[in-house]
Amino acid sequence: MKIALALLLSCIAFTAAAADTTIYITRKYLNLPVSQKQERAVMTYSVDGAEERRFVIRLSKSPEYWVFSDVSAWHGKSLRISCNGDSTALRMLYQADRIAGHDSLYNEKRRPQYHFSARRGWINDPNGLVYHEGEYHLFFQHNPFEREWENMSWGHAVSRDLVHWDELPVALHPDKIGTMFSGSIVIDYDNTSGFGEAGKPAMVALYTADSPERQVQCVAYSSDKGRTWTKYTKNPVIDSKEKWDSKDTRDPRVFWYAPGKHWVMVLNERDGHSIYTSSNLKKWKYESHVTGFWECPDLFELAVDGDRQQKKWVMYGASGTYMIGNFNGKTFTPESGKYYYTTGSIYAAQTFSNIPEADGRRIQIGWGRIQQRGMPFNNMMLLPTELTLRKTKNGIRLFSVPVKETEQLFTSVAKIPGMSTSIAEKHLAVSTENEMRMKIKFRLNHATEGGLSLLGQRILTYNMNFNTINGVFYSPEDPTSMEITADIYIDRSSVEVFIDGGAYSYSMERMPEEGYMGMPFKFFGAVDLESIEVFRANKIWPRSGSN
Ligand code: FRU
Repeated sequence: MKIALALLLSCIAFTAAAADTTIYITRKYLNLPVSQKQERAVMTYSVDGAEERRFVIRLSKSPEYWVFSDVSAWHGKSLRISCNGDSTALRMLYQADRIAGHDSLYNEKRRPQYHFSARRGWINDPNGLVYHEGEYHLFFQHNPFEREWENMSWGHAVSRDLVHWDELPVALHPDKIGTMFSGSIVIDYDNTSGFGEAGKPAMVALYTADSPERQVQCVAYSSDKGRTWTKYTKNPVIDSKEKWDSKDTRDPRVFWYAPGKHWVMVLNERDGHSIYTSSNLKKWKYESHVTGFWECPDLFELAVDGDRQQKKWVMYGASGTYMIGNFNGKTFTPESGKYYYTTGSIYAAQTFSNIPEADGRRIQIGWGRIQQRGMPFNNMMLLPTELTLRKTKNGIRLFSVPVKETEQLFTSVAKIPGMSTSIAEKHLAVSTENEMRMKIKFRLNHATEGGLSLLGQRILTYNMNFNTINGVFYSPEDPTSMEITADIYIDRSSVEVFIDGGAYSYSMERMPEEGYMGMPFKFFGAVDLESIEVFRANKIWPRSGSN
């Protein structure tokens, strides 16, 4: 009997019976205390007896930081919150019109000052990048409840200039089919899907729902500029696990193929990118497959050197390696590649759909895998860049430079044609700023290697013997010039560098140095600094406490 009782008690301890609390919602946010030291537990929100949300959270009575849920949808209702974890922490939840930590929001120590990052929690891939009725939409892979990956949902932010962002409530939450993995958004002008309303084309999202067993492709639509979403009742629309004998089928990238008057989906399946076609965004037909890619496809057409008579298609995957070729609406035929145009912390970049024809740019945002050490948020988005195809000595290549809208972020404070590196270092050392941009042009002076470091961290090393920049192969247009230009963007926790007008770019984490403010740069190797321009960086966020 005693043994049985002990067993029963230990079972109870192990299954950690769910405790719950009910809050009558009158405010915008529910604030929740969390700690990375706490085990993950399952939390549910229910309203009128129906489960509305289910997620895992490291709810803790000794919080390292606080996260939040936007609960405004349940205003005037009783929200029942149940959790099988730290039950005493449940009593600490509170609702408010501001998120916990609001006073230091956007001014935290390692908060990117001119890049997008989420207020709280983890972000990865940009999703559903689309321009619609004056707004650029940035959806993103998001765990709102922790600074590490879990609970995949689509976070959402909008901007009118690609630079200043307003974070909106989470757009897509996990459901019974799975968690919300990456995908894309199109505007269905001709209402091919039937999701639109009279005179109001629907925004249609194609995304992957991930469960332990399989990854399937699903559809959701919005008729209020992406603020609220309805999931298609007949989801999923593609389930191809058996065809590929693989669970890895994900990240649908959809666009309208005008010559064929049909939709195209590029979907990463097992070892490469597949092409599917559809007339209504719901029924999809498999067409072809290109091996050699992993995750997050993109496929688009670009003019070579701006010549609209000479266009090529570019296909890439999450790593940023790409092929150039032709596309007939059903099959992509590679002609050259694979190459890279960018390396480092960038991953899973995506380009915007529905950019107006008069603009015509191919604009990309990439996920910056930058650890925001000790922060209540993690990672960031890199600067939006414009992609172009240009003829080079090695053939046609993809170039990438920050979009012109980013110019407003920087004020030139010094532009000097040439000076010794030691004088340049002295000038730069007086800065107490923690963010800046610098354009430099330098030449190796009878040396094979030289470059620039910041606080001992080598941010640019050009080696002409191995032809590398920071260890990655790079051969400039004139291989004998010994000269390169670098446009260097330094934010609190990141460094992005664009070489020779975007022929190659890279990004990296800026190593933290406790308590250090300022820019102690050092040039190393024998380099002649031919020109340098230094810019002050403006912050994109509202001042703390003002929103
Ligand atoms: C790429 C990726 C995608 C997937 C998502 C999940 O970083 O693995 O393939 O949809 O992240 O968060």
